[in-house]
Amino acid sequence: MARLLVRDLVQLATPSAGPAPLRGAALGAVEVLEDAYVLCAGDTIESVGRMRDLPALDGEVVEVDGRGRCAIPGLVDCHAHIAFGGDRVEEFSLRAGGASYEELHARGGGILSTVRATRAAGEDGLRAAVERHRGWMLRQGTTTFEGKSGYGLDRDTELASLRAVRDAGGVPTWLGAHAVAPEFDGDADAYLDFALAEVLPEAAKIAEAADVFLERGAFDAVQARRYLEACRAAGLALRLHGDQFTESGAIPLAIELGARSVDHLEATGDEGVRALAASAVVGVVLPASALFLGRPMPPARALVDAGAAVALATDFNPGSAFCESLPLCCSLAATQLKLSPAEALSACTVNAAHVLGRADRVGRLAAGYRADVVLLDAPDWRYLAYHLGGQLVARLVVAGELR
Ligand code: NIG
Ligand code: FE
Repeated sequence: MARLLVRDLVQLATPSAGPAPLRGAALGAVEVLEDAYVLCAGDTIESVGRMRDLPALDGEVVEVDGRGRCAIPGLVDCHAHIAFGGDRVEEFSLRAGGASYEELHARGGGILSTVRATRAAGEDGLRAAVERHRGWMLRQGTTTFEGKSGYGLDRDTELASLRAVRDAGGVPTWLGAHAVAPEFDGDADAYLDFALAEVLPEAAKIAEAADVFLERGAFDAVQARRYLEACRAAGLALRLHGDQFTESGAIPLAIELGARSVDHLEATGDEGVRALAASAVVGVVLPASALFLGRPMPPARALVDAGAAVALATDFNPGSAFCESLPLCCSLAATQLKLSPAEALSACTVNAAHVLGRADRVGRLAAGYRADVVLLDAPDWRYLAYHLGGQLVARLVVAGELR
């Protein structure tokens, strides 16, 4: 097996080695090696260390020059809506002129306009869109990604979305309860009857998790519970979109049902922060979405200080966060959420991998982990957060292959 050696790196930075998810001080305890190397064997990291400790290597070794560069783990985007057709640039322009996101949604725009475009795209169109979005994410250093359905809301389009995500190498999440499908005329219970009877049995064979939008104007806590309990019984892990605009009971429900995560949290108050901190549920913060909608930022600093497990993701989607860049999210984490660059890095690597059930193999630069490495064009790895909107990613190693 040919080996790949990335050598002479200015720095190598990796989250600390404690059990995932990292909390409290461990979140910011990034280990930094100066003048470092990463040695990959096939799709796995064989070792990392300082150049002076690099052993003599026999056999075929492909060498990559790391001078002037820093290595971090491949980034992990644990919350992304990548399966959609069309765009919402028209709506974006209206919002720029003052219309609110919730108003546009109530008028049949918003999520439902993307549902129309996604249904119209057909399976081939959807596959092409997912591949395109996946390519954008890769260029920003994302080597592991989640992809939600939720813009089909009928059987065929939901299943086609999940297959497209899976076949593009993503981790598929069935967001069957994203909005009420238009043919149900606002009757959320009737829509859920349909989704759970007609879509869940097949969706559960493709997806790893289920997700629900628990919010005023979407699904309430009673409906969310019914949906999530059925999904859990079908073997899916659970996720929730919660506290985006209002505190509608997402955190207590997530804790009670043993969900992997509750995501958004822009409206979460002190009690929610305390409850989440005392639980095993990860709080996923999505600052690009808050920025894009001009909404308050989630209380990420308070969550970390209280001891909650926090992950950081893009929320990439056409309506509330047309942004696939985790480096930009790291900049927002540092400037808006008051997380250190180290906390931001751990939040979008090891903790995000935990949300996707992959923290044993993904999210760290250490022996035995998958050989996913981002080489930053930077003299200090903290440029990841510091270089706002910069072209940071110089090269990538994805499962041992140089890109
Ligand atoms: O996470 N809030 C619900 N869903 C998405 C946005 C969907 C859309 O606007 O198309 C989100 O922000
Ligand atoms: Fe989302």
